[in-house]
Amino acid sequence: MKIAVLPGDGIGPEIVAQAAKVLEALRGDGLKIELEYAHIGGAGYDAAGDPLPDATLKLSQQSDAVLLGAVGGYQYDTLPRPMRPEQGLLRIRKGLGLFANLRPAMVYPELVNASSLKPELVSGLDIMILRELTGDIYFGQPRGIRTLDNGEQQGFDTMMYSESEIRRVAHVGFQIAMKRGKKLCSVDKANVLDTSMFWREIVIEVSKEYPQVELSHMYVDNAAMQLVRAPKQFDVILTGNIFGDILSDEASMLTGSIGMLPSASLDAHNKGLYEPCHGSAPDIAGKDIANPLATILSVAMMMRYTFAREDIAQRIETAVRKVLQQGLRTGDIFEPGMQKIGCAAMGDAVVAAL
Ligand code: IPM
Ligand code: MG
Repeated sequence: MKIAVLPGDGIGPEIVAQAAKVLEALRGDGLKIELEYAHIGGAGYDAAGDPLPDATLKLSQQSDAVLLGAVGGYQYDTLPRPMRPEQGLLRIRKGLGLFANLRPAMVYPELVNASSLKPELVSGLDIMILRELTGDIYFGQPRGIRTLDNGEQQGFDTMMYSESEIRRVAHVGFQIAMKRGKKLCSVDKANVLDTSMFWREIVIEVSKEYPQVELSHMYVDNAAMQLVRAPKQFDVILTGNIFGDILSDEASMLTGSIGMLPSASLDAHNKGLYEPCHGSAPDIAGKDIANPLATILSVAMMMRYTFAREDIAQRIETAVRKVLQQGLRTGDIFEPGMQKIGCAAMGDAVVAAL
């Protein structure tokens, strides 16, 4: 298992260090795990003048999987756009062909009170959001800022999806649904956008190959509402890049703690980039208070999807459940009566439970 480790910025290095402890513990158990580190984001800019240095992309292409912390920091906010940390993230997604982004939103029984919704609305919640990650208005051309004939300036982007892009992510969606509750809700804006009308048409076509999966369609505005009204109606949500960006942030808050949510971004051959859903949190970087569990759970997803080791994935997830049951909490998920611990101590606790 050759894994490229890209800690990135802010709390990235400290949370990734905890996930690396877990990988090292597994190595101690006889797994052949090889870790190689490289820079991305602001760290890439500082080290090599580029948020995605060539060496980082190359290492990632040569590895089986990539473990990423987070990118971004105040000091990079004023850089020209191509040099911003976020560009490193967008370019590595595109460069590795990681079109299928899996963002689970699940509520741990131990943390049900952390949600901003009533416990009965979210208890037992287990949604998988599948966001297309390399197309849509994020990458569509042309884009830019232009001057019109009347001298006025205009910003513009292009939303677009080609048939093959929709087809391949739809297949992933149906296959995931087959392994779960066999319900897939495709989210679009087909009442307004041509891109969405086409999306819906292709998703319906692909659905014919998966007769056991119950397919539904929802407009994105309604989906945003339904997610906070009755989130348990969803099993798998399939959607495009920009809608998925927005809905996955919304869904994460149903669980109360974005610090708990892992993600996987996969190519057509299950090679993947694994990262927590949360950002680099520069305000708490270096203070040993960040929650490393989302990153550790991302390692579980890596074992499940890239290495097809469901057994190890479950072992990691069970270890995380155990530390929660022991009452151990980082600040973001702390409740009175629990024991507050730091980032490194949380990593140690998971390794011990493992
Ligand atoms: C995400 C983030 C990124 C995105 C940003 C940082 C470019 O919001 O992973 O959801 O918009 O995809
Ligand atoms: Mg986002």
